[in-house]
Amino acid sequence: MRFLPDNLAGVSPITEFRESGLPAAAAFFWQWVQHPRETGAISPSSPFLARAMAREAVSAGDGMVIELGAGTGVITQALVDAGVTPERLLIVEKNPALAASLRRRFADARIVEGDATQIDRMMRLHDGLAVSAIVSGLPLILFDLRQQYVLLKKSFDLLKPAGRFLQFTYGPALPVPRQIPDRLGLRAERAAFILRNVPPATLWRFERARLHP
Ligand SMILES: C[S@@+](CC[C@H](N)C(=O)[O-])C[C@H]1O[C@@H](n2cnc3c(N)ncnc32)[C@H](O)[C@@H]1O
Repeated sequence: MRFLPDNLAGVSPITEFRESGLPAAAAFFWQWVQHPRETGAISPSSPFLARAMAREAVSAGDGMVIELGAGTGVITQALVDAGVTPERLLIVEKNPALAASLRRRFADARIVEGDATQIDRMMRLHDGLAVSAIVSGLPLILFDLRQQYVLLKKSFDLLKPAGRFLQFTYGPALPVPRQIPDRLGLRAERAAFILRNVPPATLWRFERARLHP
């Protein structure tokens, strides 16, 4: 199935949607029509949610920041605006059209088109870089148990001792069963509730529990 309607086929989904007068939200909605499970939302994250995620990521330290499921780049932009230089960013996006668009927009960042559950393999290319935050826009709640476990395990294998994994979700509940963070020795807590998002979102912060006896 083609990514864009006929009159827009072959052009960048985000930039050219903007240039054609259609908002980026239209491009995102079109993605949702085609890949509802993987896209996981009908509209991009709001700037309010994006800024909340960026604040949490920046206060985790000045190491590398990995963004998983960057979509249209709203959170990526908020990270850059909050002072995370593109060189400190590794962005993972599974959707080829969105990854291509991110590559054009954030030319100095490392953009990997791939599955976030393979993050360990991607990071092997960037050995030695300390990761202070992993910011996830993934529809984690729709992942199966094994994928949820693998993603969190691999993420904390990469994160510095005081590193954070940040995940937003649309319901009030933790987006993974409680046994997963328990088994991995993690503590999960609500860092923020963002009303001005469609739909309103909760931002969860995962950290190593032993840092908080
Ligand atoms: C809810 S959207 C992200 C919204 C993003 N914050 C924005 O405002 O555009 C989820 C994104 O995760 C991507 N995604 C879903 N599963 C993925 C996976 N396993 N690995 C990497 N990206 C994935 C989707 O393609 C989509 O762009």
